[in-house]
Amino acid sequence: MALKVQASAPSNIALIKYMGKSSISANLPANSSLSYTLENLRTFVEVEERLGASEGGDIWEPLSGWPPLELSSKGSDKFLSHFARLKEMWGLTGAYVLRSANNFPSDCGLASSASSFAALTRAAFEMARAKNQAPLSLPTQELARLSRLGSGSSCRSFFSPWCLWSGETVSGPPFPLRLRHAVVVVEESKKEVSSSEAHQRVQTSLLYEGRERRAEMRLQRLMKILSLSDLNQRAWREGMEILWSEFWDMHALFETSEPSFGYLNERSLRVLNRLRTVWRETGDGPWITMDAGPNVHLLLRQEQTSKASSWLSGFQVLRDWNES
Ligand code: PMV
Repeated sequence: MALKVQASAPSNIALIKYMGKSSISANLPANSSLSYTLENLRTFVEVEERLGASEGGDIWEPLSGWPPLELSSKGSDKFLSHFARLKEMWGLTGAYVLRSANNFPSDCGLASSASSFAALTRAAFEMARAKNQAPLSLPTQELARLSRLGSGSSCRSFFSPWCLWSGETVSGPPFPLRLRHAVVVVEESKKEVSSSEAHQRVQTSLLYEGRERRAEMRLQRLMKILSLSDLNQRAWREGMEILWSEFWDMHALFETSEPSFGYLNERSLRVLNRLRTVWRETGDGPWITMDAGPNVHLLLRQEQTSKASSWLSGFQVLRDWNES
């Protein structure tokens, strides 16, 4: 009988962004990044042996039972070649069908590559273990390192709720703060410039010089705030300012690259303005960030969830809590 294994992994949202690589082939980041793991936004991957198919006959297809996932041929090639790399590493032979699905829209700045590659790495490991070809257990650090080779940001999906990625090292700092997450989905269509392309193009921007230092300075300030056992309103506001300038920094790099590109649209700006007004009028509000996409991510303190509905009325929102 054909062996079949399954695994899933969460997405993550960066508060300090990974943008720009110090090594393209090893997916090493130019600067440290810090993320919050989004346990409810997940990719599910199934790996099944294709008995009788010839060696190298790996294929990808959507996993049934979920909204059908569409992958471009580039997307599925990237997925299959990560699997091939893992097979080679663990001496896994034979042909396999990889099936995957997300429980959220793909390729629109909801970081599906992070959850996809993390879930694939886990599933491939399960298959190698089932066939006695991988060590029975691997440190999470090592799985994260392998996953990084497929997609950099996926290494951060192995630690929860916080993850710090610096060079070769990925860890889960024990910050006490627990957040709720919501994303205002202003567009579900696919990105025109992939993140792999973005990592390279930002280096053409005149603003790229100093990027590493700016990200590092924000990281240090933010980690101080996150280490507080009792986060006061002033620290919360300072956190918001750090996240705000950090995502604009990344988007400014996109816009000033040659050739320039960008992800924000009119509706993204409308959401950002609305949230800025909330902060101005009430002295409080969410932490706000954006990925390489037009959608706006919010991170909230537990007690802010009831207010969030009024901040976001009229917009399509994916939230990780139930509305009462
Ligand atoms: O893992 P990649 O190569 O798809 O990089 C994505 C990087 C951003 O999502 C744009 C930012 C980040 O730190 O997650």
